Amino acid sequence: MQTFFEDYKTIIIFLHILSAVVWVGGMIAIKFAVHPVIQTIDEPKIRLGTNLRIVGRLFNLVMPFIVMSILCALLIIQGAGYAGGFIYLKEAIWTVMSLNYMYMYIQRKQAQTLFNRGDLAGAKAKMQLLPTILLPINIVLGVVAIFLGVMLRG
Ligand code: HEM
Repeated sequence: MQTFFEDYKTIIIFLHILSAVVWVGGMIAIKFAVHPVIQTIDEPKIRLGTNLRIVGRLFNLVMPFIVMSILCALLIIQGAGYAGGFIYLKEAIWTVMSLNYMYMYIQRKQAQTLFNRGDLAGAKAKMQLLPTILLPINIVLGVVAIFLGVMLRG
């Protein structure tokens, strides 16, 4: 494992950082640049439908990067011999972020089904917590994980 890590160190760390950029950056872009503009659409059906499509695309985009971030992290900690509190903390943060992501993914999928059936109120209720609580939680945790990464590098 050590030799593998030594040979591919640069690319492994690069892929770990790229995952963070896409996952955390994607959420920040949707929350602060895309979502406020969508809210200005007057027609409720178009507004909700656009929201569902954009969030759906973000969730599909970040899925492989979530897996890649933990795979690269495991290679880094094995290969470079990292241990200690910050590592456990980052593992815990990744787990909470992934569970939160899975919950949001399911909520959005169910909302899409309701929307397709014409149940706008039901779909809206399913999406309610995403921009106000769930996405901000993951943004804050993601930023903390990035900061801890910088601390670990030293
Ligand atoms: C939750 C998602 C995560 C994000 C957003 C993230 C982000 C980052 C970033 C941006 C860096 C680079 C810091 C720098 O170049 O100064 C980094 C480094 C690092 N991360 Fe993560 N990370 C995550 C999850 C994890 C997990 C789960 C672990 C291990 C259990 C981990 C272990 C590390 C280690 C050991 C480094 C230092 C790598 C080195 O030697 O250069 N990360 N992380």
